[in-house]
Amino acid sequence: EMAEKAGYPHFMLKEIYEQPRAVRDAMHGNVDAVRKAAEEIARYEKVFIVAMGTSYHAGLVGKYLFQRLANRVPIVEDASEFRYEFENVIDEDTLVIAITQSGETADTLAAMKLAKRKGAKVLAIVNVVGSMATRIADLTLYTHAGPEIGVAATKTYTTQLAVLTMLAIELARVLGTADDGYLSSLVDGLSRVPELMEEVLKHDASLRELAEGLAGKSDFFYIGRGVSVPTALEGALKLKEISYIHAEGLSAGELKHGPLALLEEGVPVVAIAPSGKTFEKMLGNIEESRARGAFIIGLGDREELGRVSDVLVQMPPMDELLTPIVYAVPLQLLAYHLAVLRGNDPDKPRNLAKSVTVE
Ligand code: G6P
Repeated sequence: EMAEKAGYPHFMLKEIYEQPRAVRDAMHGNVDAVRKAAEEIARYEKVFIVAMGTSYHAGLVGKYLFQRLANRVPIVEDASEFRYEFENVIDEDTLVIAITQSGETADTLAAMKLAKRKGAKVLAIVNVVGSMATRIADLTLYTHAGPEIGVAATKTYTTQLAVLTMLAIELARVLGTADDGYLSSLVDGLSRVPELMEEVLKHDASLRELAEGLAGKSDFFYIGRGVSVPTALEGALKLKEISYIHAEGLSAGELKHGPLALLEEGVPVVAIAPSGKTFEKMLGNIEESRARGAFIIGLGDREELGRVSDVLVQMPPMDELLTPIVYAVPLQLLAYHLAVLRGNDPDKPRNLAKSVTVE
């Protein structure tokens, strides 16, 4: 097992570090496949995305990308709810995109089977080659992340995001919904994402230090706006899964509608605040949290963020649409270090399984 960990103390850490390579492979391995898939998707107005856990968060990012670039607004549904919520509207004019690392998650498979039974087209985004999901789907895109041993998804999430980003760009091309120059710049930006991930991996030691000061905390809040909402949800999920610290991810706008009542001196608030459409509004929400004594951990690329944060995780500048992939990395590292500092085995969190094969 030591050999398989390639010198890393845990599989999870190894897999976090593999991400630049994994994302590169996901991109190179999908150039043609994504083109074919985008042409298929373009035929459908009614699009659903179904998934569970971290894959569900990838779906939420996917919705944002499809909407922003291709004017398509898929309904993203937790696969366990999909059947009960949407059974009557699924038909031959429906496309269902299932996202599943393992390709074996019971709820996701059940949603796919229902979609097939109703005559819908099913596209799967899967990591495990030959898994059940690939046999049910009409069309499969592989994430090419390689085997993921740690129970908490890391490289399989960022590769799902890379594939979804490519898909949204290609769909926008097919539908002619976005400026060609902008799409080309996004393709360039995406190709540089592995380098940006290498860059943020250098925060590892400082994130470990940050974690040392936070290991005794019992609640964390993760906030973001726009495309950073799923990033906040995923950051909170990672923390819950492996550190067993209670965490909530939410849109910064929702803070005032309840969770703000829970903020008091020293409660950590992780603010996902890249420059972009919502940056100014995020600053307001951060100030609001600070005024209640919250300890602000800011993730972003703007100087102003440093002024309102107790700790700034300096991120490189990039197109806002690419931030979910790169910003996932420091959030994974923070959760990892908190888990280890609290004496947990991040590879095998209590009560959780890598693949949930019963509904
Ligand atoms: C389990 C795993 C998660 C994963 C989820 C969905 O809960 O612990 O890491 O995100 O299942 O798995 P899938 O294989 O369908 O992506």
